Amino acid sequence: MRLDRFLSNLPRFNRQDARQLLAAGRVRLDGQACRDGCREVRIFSRVELDDELLQTGKAARYFMLHKPRGVVSATEHPEHRTVLDLLDEPDKHELHLAGRLDLNTSGLLLLTNDGQWSRRVTAPTGKQPKVYLVDTEDPIDPACVAAFAEGLYFRFEDLVTRPAELQILAPRHARLTLYEGRYHQVKRMFGHFQNKVVGLHRISMGRIQLDDLLSPGQYRALTAEEIASF
Ligand code: URA
Repeated sequence: MRLDRFLSNLPRFNRQDARQLLAAGRVRLDGQACRDGCREVRIFSRVELDDELLQTGKAARYFMLHKPRGVVSATEHPEHRTVLDLLDEPDKHELHLAGRLDLNTSGLLLLTNDGQWSRRVTAPTGKQPKVYLVDTEDPIDPACVAAFAEGLYFRFEDLVTRPAELQILAPRHARLTLYEGRYHQVKRMFGHFQNKVVGLHRISMGRIQLDDLLSPGQYRALTAEEIASF
């Protein structure tokens, strides 16, 4: 909500009062005097009027988890353990996932209570690279490199995938960089070449790299720099 609206929604102020309070520099947003009524007040924002605290601001929380195979990327599931079960945090049900991984995929997963941030992370037009290590059943056809770079036609969605970079590291092992996240995308891309993905591990999203110090199932808070990178 805009700051001027936030103020005029308080029972004791109308719109004109809100304008005057702002113009007089009496309002602070996140500790800084703010005269701009268009600034956004979020649940995470601290709002003060003179010495009075109008809104404390909830703590925004951001985590990276090393998702193990066999754990579901969901907050609830009737059968399987979920990634939320791996977190030992207060009010963890307020957290949601910024992107998912399949049941048998391991690697970097981001969790937060900040919906705006997670929308930036998962925006289909965000063009943030996601990097995967892939193990396949059969040797990888070198023709995949050009085909993935050109884009593959996905009939179900009637679209061509964005250019992706494939680096073959060993006959059955590769690094794949995607700039979007379609349903089972990596498996379907190799499926075009009748090659089954037998291991899939995400090592980065944008500039956030899975921390080498995290074993499968472990997590840590993101640094301010990692948060700001999205
Ligand atoms: N592509 C897949 O096929 N599975 C994942 O978990 C992520 C990308």
